[in-house]
Amino acid sequence: MISKVTIDNVFEAARLEEVIGDFVQLKKAGVNFKGLSPFSDERTPSFVVSPVKQIWKDFSSGKGGNVVSFLMEHEHFTYPEAIKYLAKKYGIEIEETIQSDEQKEQADERESLYLVSEYAKKQFHNTLLKLEEGKAIGLSYFKERGFTQETIEKFILGYSPNQWDAFTDKAIRDGYQLDFLEKTGLTIVKGEKQFDRFKGRVMFPILSMSGRTLGFGGRILTNDKKAAKYLNSPESDIYHKSKVLYGIYQAKQEIAKEDNCYLVEGYTDVIQFYQSGVKNVVSSSGTALSPDQIRLINRLTQNITVLFDGDAAGLRASLRGIDLILEQGMNVKICTFPEGEDPDSFAKNNSLEELRLYLEDNAQDFINFKASLLALEAKNDPIKKANTIRDMVESIAKIPDVIKQEVYLKECSRIMDISEEVLFNTLAQILKKDRKDAGKQVPTSNKAFEVIPSKKETIKKVDFQFQLERKIIELLLLYGSEDEDFEELTLESSESGEITYKSEIIQTKVYEKIYLDLQEDEIEFANEGFKNLYFDIINNFNQKEEFKIDIFINQLQPEKSEAITHILMDDEKHVLHNWLGKDIYVKDKSQSISQVVSETILNLRRHLVTLKINELAELIKGIEDDDQKKNTLIEAVDYSTLKKILSDKLNRVL
Ligand code: CTP
Ligand code: MN
Repeated sequence: MISKVTIDNVFEAARLEEVIGDFVQLKKAGVNFKGLSPFSDERTPSFVVSPVKQIWKDFSSGKGGNVVSFLMEHEHFTYPEAIKYLAKKYGIEIEETIQSDEQKEQADERESLYLVSEYAKKQFHNTLLKLEEGKAIGLSYFKERGFTQETIEKFILGYSPNQWDAFTDKAIRDGYQLDFLEKTGLTIVKGEKQFDRFKGRVMFPILSMSGRTLGFGGRILTNDKKAAKYLNSPESDIYHKSKVLYGIYQAKQEIAKEDNCYLVEGYTDVIQFYQSGVKNVVSSSGTALSPDQIRLINRLTQNITVLFDGDAAGLRASLRGIDLILEQGMNVKICTFPEGEDPDSFAKNNSLEELRLYLEDNAQDFINFKASLLALEAKNDPIKKANTIRDMVESIAKIPDVIKQEVYLKECSRIMDISEEVLFNTLAQILKKDRKDAGKQVPTSNKAFEVIPSKKETIKKVDFQFQLERKIIELLLLYGSEDEDFEELTLESSESGEITYKSEIIQTKVYEKIYLDLQEDEIEFANEGFKNLYFDIINNFNQKEEFKIDIFINQLQPEKSEAITHILMDDEKHVLHNWLGKDIYVKDKSQSISQVVSETILNLRRHLVTLKINELAELIKGIEDDDQKKNTLIEAVDYSTLKKILSDKLNRVL
């Protein structure tokens, strides 16, 4: 684990605008910077970076956060990877918290495996480009396949010399231990002898999402029928073939940007597609697609298009992979290539435009795909047709989203010309059986920290309480430590029984005013996220004299800091809309802070009182007992009086 001190140092040193500036061209716009969103294709900038608050927001995708969340979004780093990246950029030494000896040994060993793999990647690449044998055999092979120099470098392709132990020998001379060479599978040790696993092969390094070398694929160049065409690294502590996707490092950005991932079968398919210009492509390298691999893609997009070679053989076997994708709640399309072609040959023999057009025209959703398979086999065979329909419904049953399920059932009904009712019944049967088989496996919904409505355009019924709670958080963050004059009204009833107010001006800090007022009514936030944030912020004020937004944000868990970002950056939206020349309502900022604070608190209190009154009114309806009814009624009247008072106060503020 990276130590807290290191994390603090990193946050202290990192300047958001510098970090983002490495990826996005930023221009000064008032107090902020703006630029084109790196998460979508746009012409007018809607990406805003606040150097003061050290937060960013992308108004076109709705994403936002601090410096670490930018790296996590953009580079798809994990949290520790992002911290390490920043530490490197700012020359900060990484201090790890103490680990047990065993943990340490394990971490050291993994690190050594990474190091030797990294070395091998460079060594093979160098052999390919610089050594005579590599150039004459490996490089000319790749050139023959049509790979450009740029492509060879992008994928760091290599060559392993055609001698029994040339690579191993060199590695040991360069100081790498045989033990680690063996554990990564680069070297095969037999008694006293050592052999290079990849002798005489061209090499495809397999990289992790963050670019670490995990393993290799090596292709043979001779026509030796006995030797496998491709050899892969064996499983090791760092290489698990069901958890990696070939090409993911090179493709990740493009997958997120295009919001779609092409899945092909082989190394060369990936490379040829990439070189053609379709860069959102990965391969499971000849193995059946695994749930871990799907999850890897899921971090980048919800959409997968599976591409199959022209030979229909083996298609049926691959259909299981499609159900796995559906099961993860992702959308899947399938595209097949003409007889005798695979993605590699098709991309090589056609222009980018033709390739794009082909993919667009031929990608089908799984329902249509299964229907077309049937058409190939036997359209007029009723038994086959029934099986296909059942097969389709079985796939549909895997989809977690019921709305999608229904849409697909209707589509299936239309294509296969069978009534929806029968299909719904079949689905119900399958689901019932699945539940029995699986025991009580309830799908866990991902209850994210919902702060902004996810769909920008949908007109949602405004949740008043949500807005008010959010507003209070915003006020605390922006003005919490400021001293303001608040008008305190105390109630006085005159001798005639008339209610009057006594006004007094009291100076307090904004956060104290909010805290005390809410405490008085024992108000608790309804939204869990806001509730937690509220306590975090109040605690922070109570502990520290000075409150700095950027420091505060960076200490929070990523999802909390992200939530805060959205709240704070909403304020910047009007700036943005102004550049776009749109006539958008801009909040009147002339209102004083104390006015806004008082207004917000009163509104929240009145809202809650109203809810209480409604609740009591409902309750009264169901009460039989007269005494109980009377008491409840009195309570309701008390609340109504309070509501009246709050309304009066509110009127004075406004
Ligand atoms: N594969 C493998 N071992 C083999 C054959 C294939 O691991 N003996 C994997 C490789 O990842 C390969 C993929 O399956 O890229 C697809 O196999 P294939 O279609 O035979 O290979 P191509 O990628 O078409 O290879 P090439 O064009 O170089 O013949
Ligand atoms: Mn091929």
